[in-house]
Formats: sequence, structure tokens, C-alpha cells
Amino acid sequence: MNTKYIDLINQTYYFPQEEFTLNKDHLEFHKIDLMKLVEQYGTPLKFTYLPAISNNIKRAKNWFRSAMEKNKYEGKYYYCYCTKSSHFSYVMNEAFKNNIHIETSSAFDINIVENLLAQGKINKSTYVICNGFKRDQYIENIARLINNGHKNTIPIIDNYEELDLLTSEIKGKFKIGIRIAAEEEPKFEFYTSRLGIGYKNIVSFYRKQILENPNLELKMLHFFINTGINDTAYYWNELVKCIKVYIALKRECPSLDGLNIGGGFPIKNSLAFEYDYQYMIDEILNQIKIACDEEEVEVPNIFTEFGSFTVGESGGAIYQVLYQKQQNDREKWNMIDSSFITTLPDTWAINKRFVMLAVNRWNDTYERVLLGGMTCDSDDYYNSEQNMNAIYLPKYSKEKPLYIGFFNTGAYQETIGGYGGLHHCLIPQPKHILIDRDENGILATEVFSEAQTSEDVLNILGYK
Ligand SMILES: Cc1ncc(COP(=O)(O)O)c(C=O)c1O
Repeated sequence: MNTKYIDLINQTYYFPQEEFTLNKDHLEFHKIDLMKLVEQYGTPLKFTYLPAISNNIKRAKNWFRSAMEKNKYEGKYYYCYCTKSSHFSYVMNEAFKNNIHIETSSAFDINIVENLLAQGKINKSTYVICNGFKRDQYIENIARLINNGHKNTIPIIDNYEELDLLTSEIKGKFKIGIRIAAEEEPKFEFYTSRLGIGYKNIVSFYRKQILENPNLELKMLHFFINTGINDTAYYWNELVKCIKVYIALKRECPSLDGLNIGGGFPIKNSLAFEYDYQYMIDEILNQIKIACDEEEVEVPNIFTEFGSFTVGESGGAIYQVLYQKQQNDREKWNMIDSSFITTLPDTWAINKRFVMLAVNRWNDTYERVLLGGMTCDSDDYYNSEQNMNAIYLPKYSKEKPLYIGFFNTGAYQETIGGYGGLHHCLIPQPKHILIDRDENGILATEVFSEAQTSEDVLNILGYK
């Protein structure tokens, strides 16, 4: 009988995969020997493999290029990075090697943009798409950016008041976009997104508040479908509705020439993940082209704001299984040396799945377990795997430490988890390392931040 962990993986998935390979009984991620990292840096450990960021940006640009050629689509494509998925400087530094643009969501983002401009990481031709609900500080910062000459800044109007707030701060002419409030998926709690302006009100909003104002140049229509870009009737339906609004607006507003289809490209959350990116992009452009040709309107330039897709597949976390608690005949809890709630908060908050694999002992027999975090919260567990609602790992043994990896965790987890701050039960922030490759393919690692200490935490708490 095949009872080794490696047999289980081989029988359940196509394995090895491009980024997941095996070296004897150790897992490698992009050819990085993860056990070496464990030996050098210990656990719990968070890491970012920087080349994965550029790699995904290049993949997306190529898909759009070939879809535009295939569809004879005469618009341009602009890849924007949605900063809220990870604001770290190392992410920006890597992402902006690829001649891309930026989407912001709040006031401090603009300070980051100014920093990137000062460092020459981005320049005057970089589009800065300012999304989000805008109040004083954000408005002030956007206005400063534009008044200082960054004319490719496009605030996206999210509500009726924003336009007045912006016009009172910005000197002279500036570009704007409008966000369409998408209809939510039928099973969602709400009908219409709270973000943006309803479909039916967009043209009248333009006529009333934009048309007569010589300082405003409407350039972009924006929408974001909360469920992401998926091959579902719901997605295609929403897309077609947005294209119709674009066409109606374009007829009245010649300066309009950009359609921003938001973020929402999925990433690999299991070894069984399948998604045909090229097909989806072909089909999106095809739909836009057909609708515009029919109405004899020029096709728009396309903007995307991929967050997870840009940075998600660069991140990972490694934990050690510290101990096994057998609570009854069926429930064996493998306790990890950190907390899911605090280090991978989406696993707890929205039941998000990540690729989860043993890092070592692939030739050992496996068992079914539950994974528990160290906080005292009963919700601090991970128990969801694609295709099966259980976790299988090499058998726990006190003598042979077991390490497990969570992969493609690079988006949102740090900001939602409150990086460097206070965490539930004061479980410390793990050490974080950066991994890069030089032009000869040689790996280099460096510590980005050490594990949080009791001093760090007591300082925050006011025990000076
Ligand atoms: C307006 C907007 N654009 C882009 C994104 C990025 O989405 P994702 O990380 O799924 O690509 C989001 C995410 O919430 C968003 O709200």
C-alpha cells in the first residue's frame, strides 16, 4: 500500500509543478531549499521570493499583448499595481522594475507615491489611479501631487461630494475617472456595492457636474467586481453592463478613453488550481471590441489593478509542528509555533485557502490532522484544503520535527494582520526574509525584519 506522504501528493495532484519540486524528501519552492531556510533562520518564518512579482507582471502583460493582437484591439494596456495588497518597499522596488503604473486607496499611499517619484522608481508618465473614499487628508495629498506637476494622476470619483472637494484644492485642469458601483453577486448580503456611483446615475452625473467644468477631463470609467475575474454568468453580465455605460458616456464625452477593469485575477490556492488566464483576457477584450464596434465607438485603453496576482505568489510562511494533541479518537491537533489568526488572517476571517504542504519528511507515512494555532482562540485553526476538507501530513513524531509551508500568501496578510503591531494573545510577528536571484540565477537571502520581541510589544503597550 502507498502510505507515504509523497504517494498521497502524487495520487491527488499533478506533482511536481513548476514552482514546487522535491529534493530527496524536502520540498523546494522555485528551487529554494526550504529546509535550508529553516536551518538558517528558524521558524516561524515568513518569506518573500521577489522574482515571482516581476514574473507575474510579465505574464499578464504578455497575455494582454497577445489578446490585443488576436482581437485586433486598437487600444493600449496599462498594468497598475494595487498597492493595498502589499505596500512594502521591497514589493514596490521589484514591481516598478517592470514599467507599470499604480493604484492607490488612501491618503498615505500618496506619500508612498511621492517617495517613489523622489527615488526615480516611477516618473511623470506613471499613472497614479486614486481609488477609495476620499476625505480631507487623501484629497489634500492628491491635490498636492497634481499641483506639483504629476498630471497623470487620475482621482476616481467614488461619491458625489468628492468632485467639489477636489476642485476646491486642485489648481487648473486635471483628469478624473468615475467608479461604477457594481451589482453584487446574487448570493451576497447586499445588492449594490457601496463603492462608486450607480450605473443609472453615471451619465446624468457627468452632465450635471463634469460637462460644464472646463477644469475637468473625464478619462476613465472604473469598475471592480468583488468576486474577481471569473468565468461566470455573473461576471460576464456585469462586464457587459459596464461596457454599455462606457459606450453611453463616450458618446457624450470625447475625452473618455480608458476602461479600468479593476483587480481580481485569482492565484494558485491549491495544487489543483486551474484557471485559463489567456482565455479570460481574450474574452474580455473580445466582448469590449464587439460592443464598441457595434456602436461605432473607439475601443478604450484597458487598465487593470491586480493586487493578489502581482504579489500573492511571492509570499510564504513556514511553521514547525510543535506538538500533537489527540483530543478524542478522531481529532489529532498538530499545534504550530505561531498563530493563523495573526500571521495568515484571511484563513480565519474569510476561510481563505492557501497551498499548504509539508516541507520535510515526504517519505514518511501520513495521517489526517487538524492544524491549530497558539492563541487561546478556538477559531485559530486551519482546516480547508482544496478537494478535500481535511489536512494530511507526515505522521507527527517527537524525534523528527515536522515543518509545514503555506504558499502564495504574499497579498493582504501583513496589513490585515497588523504587521509589527499587537497581535492576539501577543503572539509575536515572525521573522521575515527576502529572497532574490541575481542575473546568473544565484539566490541571495536577507532578513527584512526580525521576529518581534517582548520589548517591542511592551513598548506599544506603554510599559516604558
Ligand atoms: C478597486 C480595487 N482594485 C483592485 C483591487 C485588487 O484586487 P485583487 O487583489 O483581487 O487583484 C481591489 C481589492 O479589493 C479593489 O478594491
